[in-house]
Amino acid sequence: MAKKVRFTDTALRDAHQSLIATRMSIEDMLPILETMDEAGYHSLEVWGGATFDACLRYLNEDPWERLREIRKHVRKTKLQMLLRGQNLLGYKHYPDDVVESFIERAIKNGIDIIRVFDALNDLRNLKTAVKAIKKYGGHAQMCICYTISEIHTNEYYVNLVKEMEKMGADSIAIKDMAGIITPATTYSLIKDIKSVTKLPIVVHTHATSGIAEMTYLKAVEAGADIIDTAISPLSGGTSQPATESLAIALEELGYETGLDHDKLKEIAEHFKQVKEEFRNKGVLNPKVMDVVPDTLTYQVPGGMLSNLLSQLTEAKKEDKYEEVLKEVPKVRAELGYPPLVTPLSQMVGTQALMNVISGERYKMIPKEIKDYVKGLYGKSPGSISQEMKEKIIGDEEVLDVRPADLLKPEMKNLKKELGDLAESTEDVLMYALFPQLALPYLKKRKDPFCDVPVQNVTVIY
Ligand code: CO
Repeated sequence: MAKKVRFTDTALRDAHQSLIATRMSIEDMLPILETMDEAGYHSLEVWGGATFDACLRYLNEDPWERLREIRKHVRKTKLQMLLRGQNLLGYKHYPDDVVESFIERAIKNGIDIIRVFDALNDLRNLKTAVKAIKKYGGHAQMCICYTISEIHTNEYYVNLVKEMEKMGADSIAIKDMAGIITPATTYSLIKDIKSVTKLPIVVHTHATSGIAEMTYLKAVEAGADIIDTAISPLSGGTSQPATESLAIALEELGYETGLDHDKLKEIAEHFKQVKEEFRNKGVLNPKVMDVVPDTLTYQVPGGMLSNLLSQLTEAKKEDKYEEVLKEVPKVRAELGYPPLVTPLSQMVGTQALMNVISGERYKMIPKEIKDYVKGLYGKSPGSISQEMKEKIIGDEEVLDVRPADLLKPEMKNLKKELGDLAESTEDVLMYALFPQLALPYLKKRKDPFCDVPVQNVTVIY
């Protein structure tokens, strides 16, 4: 029996989010969608993450319309999205009725596979989402957010996977959002996970540190079923490794990929032009292509490294860079080792920066850090010492229920607030997630003199 490995192409989501700040519009995608549908991918990651936000904020595009448009042209290949559990595509917890409605609509508008994660790996924050995915006939791909700490052992992840299987996971993704997983670790982690489950295993990493291809090779050798790659013009650097190159290498090693290399070539030709346009417009910062071994040394995502550096540069404190980098793991340990993924990566980074710049640790504490310690984001992976709790939230109580249990249903009120502006449940959800962006957008749509693409919405309540 031939060994098989399948590919998920991230060109339409993670790759352009990582390289060109999610600025690709539907026009950049349309001419090539049908070819992508013919290329033999396991799935195309096309929605979620920052795409919804960027559609409204920068592209004057209805994100729902984008999804429907993609689905119209991609008839066979599965469409996939990334969802932050109870945070959906935003940065706070939403009530259960919003989460359920959002997932129902995402699936109805064309999504097949929902890759769902919680920044803290707190499974309570995935419960409602997974239930809804199953209810509406979607594929629930549950993620373990990969991070490194004394508590994040293989055993810890294996236990998570066992729980996820009980919750109804259809597949498991090892999500290495920071690009810090190493080939040997990947191999042993997948072997351990495979020993407790038959669910398909997907590996997601970023090429930032220069070892992603090795990581994928070891992943495949250990039995990974699917890997995330990006078509060559949108690959490498802070994005994923190149689809074509990995397919060639793995095929030579005897793996069947199911990919059609002629089609891949056509897809690459198209995105080469798209990339060129973004390069000419100055959207493609050449720095995103730098190899950054520091991500491995400091176990910090590449994006976080560059953010910290630019914040320090703005404050004319570039000389403090090393000091801040050393502060990050300390803060992380004190906060119970949260994985460095949105929004925790920004929060931990800001606290580390404040600790160094103010000259006194925890002299300044952002509200988000206080909320985190109070349990408003979920349970911290490791424990936070009593001393740290007192320093950060004084004698305030720590929450031990699922954060969304404290939220009341919201859909009805949101619909009322929008009144005539909402023509569909999709509009209400857009407003639920990004009120400041959705409101002007929906108003503009009502304005006959405003140039907004024609919407095909059906009124469903
Ligand atoms: Co990613």
